Amino acid sequence: MTAQEIRNQYLKFFEARGHAVIKRAPLILKDDPTTLFTGSGMQPMIPFLLGEPFEKGTRVVDSQTCLRAQDIDDIGDNRHTTFFEMLGNWSLGDYFKEQQIEWMFEFLDTIVGLDLSKLYVTCFIGDERYGIPKDTEAAEIWKRLFDTKGLSSGEAEIGSEEDGYNRGINEGERIFYYDGSKNWWSRNGSPETTPIGDPCGPDSEMFYDFGTPHDTAYGEFCHPNCDCGRFMEIGNNVFMAYKKVSESEFVPLEKPNIDHGSGLERIAAAKLGDPDVFKISIMWPIIERLQKLSGKSYESHTTSMRVIADHLRAATFLAVDGCVPSNKEQGYVMRRLVRRAIRFAFDLGIEQNFLEQIVPVIADIYVDDFPEVAASRDEVVAILIKEEKAFRQTIRKGIRELEKMKSEGINGANLFKLYDTYGFPVELSIEEAYKQEIAVPENWREEFDAHMAEQRSRSQTAAKGVFKGGLGGQSLQHKKYHTATHLMYQALRDVLGDHVVQHGSNITEERLRFDFSHPEKVTREQLDQVEAIVNEQISKDLKVSFAEYPTEEATGPLGALGQFGDRYGSTVKVYKMIADGAEKPFSFEICGGPHVDHTLQLFEDDKRFKILKEESSSAGIRRIKAVLQ
Ligand code: ALA
Repeated sequence: MTAQEIRNQYLKFFEARGHAVIKRAPLILKDDPTTLFTGSGMQPMIPFLLGEPFEKGTRVVDSQTCLRAQDIDDIGDNRHTTFFEMLGNWSLGDYFKEQQIEWMFEFLDTIVGLDLSKLYVTCFIGDERYGIPKDTEAAEIWKRLFDTKGLSSGEAEIGSEEDGYNRGINEGERIFYYDGSKNWWSRNGSPETTPIGDPCGPDSEMFYDFGTPHDTAYGEFCHPNCDCGRFMEIGNNVFMAYKKVSESEFVPLEKPNIDHGSGLERIAAAKLGDPDVFKISIMWPIIERLQKLSGKSYESHTTSMRVIADHLRAATFLAVDGCVPSNKEQGYVMRRLVRRAIRFAFDLGIEQNFLEQIVPVIADIYVDDFPEVAASRDEVVAILIKEEKAFRQTIRKGIRELEKMKSEGINGANLFKLYDTYGFPVELSIEEAYKQEIAVPENWREEFDAHMAEQRSRSQTAAKGVFKGGLGGQSLQHKKYHTATHLMYQALRDVLGDHVVQHGSNITEERLRFDFSHPEKVTREQLDQVEAIVNEQISKDLKVSFAEYPTEEATGPLGALGQFGDRYGSTVKVYKMIADGAEKPFSFEICGGPHVDHTLQLFEDDKRFKILKEESSSAGIRRIKAVLQ
């Protein structure tokens, strides 16, 4: 069974059980200011998991393309990829634990035909601090199902990951209890870090045992959550039963939800019985083409081929979803992906343009299942080829710099600078230096790696910041900045004209940031006007409310600003900000929220709206940072 078949069968299986099949959301959610990329299937579903009615019903299924850019430097092993598809099914206050586990078991058993003797599961051990009980209910359901197959179903209390390494597993054990760091799901991990206001709950993960020998470098004994690669997590059933209401309190949701996510690539690997996800049907054609192009084998150049395949697959989907390489945020990640792929190609001896040969192979894998890939195929190839040419130009510049560097002496620090400034492949620099005169001190690598590690830790902190910024997205401070963003958007249109269209929005507890189309710098005078309009509107204490409208009506005759992806179907939520007694709202904009109830809340603590900065974001797009201070 191919990965494509697994995807289709999954959608069909849940469709036959009353689920509406929805299209994947793009990797970049234009209207979600909280994160850089769609990183899990549930992300676009958040408004509905928080209780907003979903017009397609209470049962939903999809295959969501995801990108986890935090992992970019770790790609190269047999199972991690920056880009992957998450098979997701949701119950929005409909069925719950028993039904979910039964269906997953049935799907893996009768449809995929996995060898269930290799399936291991984990459940939540409970957390006394918050009065959340051990999830014996989930364990009982699994036990009953394993029994029907005559499989062992012994239970074991593990606790933390570390406890797992100390304890290991015993013969006959199949159901393992772990603590909140492993078996609790919220947008920000365990119970203590769950954002206040967010839905969350215990989860039950499914692991496939590939039977590879345990690697003690990870810990003394192996256990399902061990990272050695023997057990691979193939899916997660989240029982979203709680809402965190304060630092110390979780209350049951009136109607609990199911949030299920399975890794398509990993289920396909389990089906093949080979833990190398690069061997599955939606990856292998890329590797095959790389082998052909380079004349090298996958066995001898495994890491490089994996990195190239992963990165170009991610970059291809980013291009399909409208991203272009740049020096900022999503565009920057895309640029890094493409450039890293090109650098790793040097290792295969590919020094000439080659994206033209690989990107179409990737597009062809997906054209039948994702019509948007078919529709943008040529454009996507063109975008990536352009970036490749630009990078090779950069490399040539780097070589000239290297020449200059020779006079001051080549060392790890300046090689790193070359790498950092030009993305110049360091091995290539060394080769060049050798060619010219080895000039290179022996400890260059240590020095280079130290700089690299420092930069990595800086960028990880920055990535966490972006992520975290969005995760507490329901706080009052976030609501205030959401509301201020709507007011500013309208004010910008009033001052600059109706050509101003939102291109991105990012909100943290500290500030709002807004990207919009405008051909030139906005003058300070214009910014002052915008600021004054926003403050004036806030002082009128506009009432903030929302209503659902048919999409065509909202964007057509009603003239609502903004656009939501078509995944939300034929109705949209529109926020209205209107002064008491006024005929027309000041702001009328499609948005998922959340917002304050009335605008004077923005002036609390004697704060005022202020634009701190206006700059260029990319060609024709301006960026504003503003605060309430
Ligand atoms: N949202 C859950 C996850 O990402 C299913 O693991």
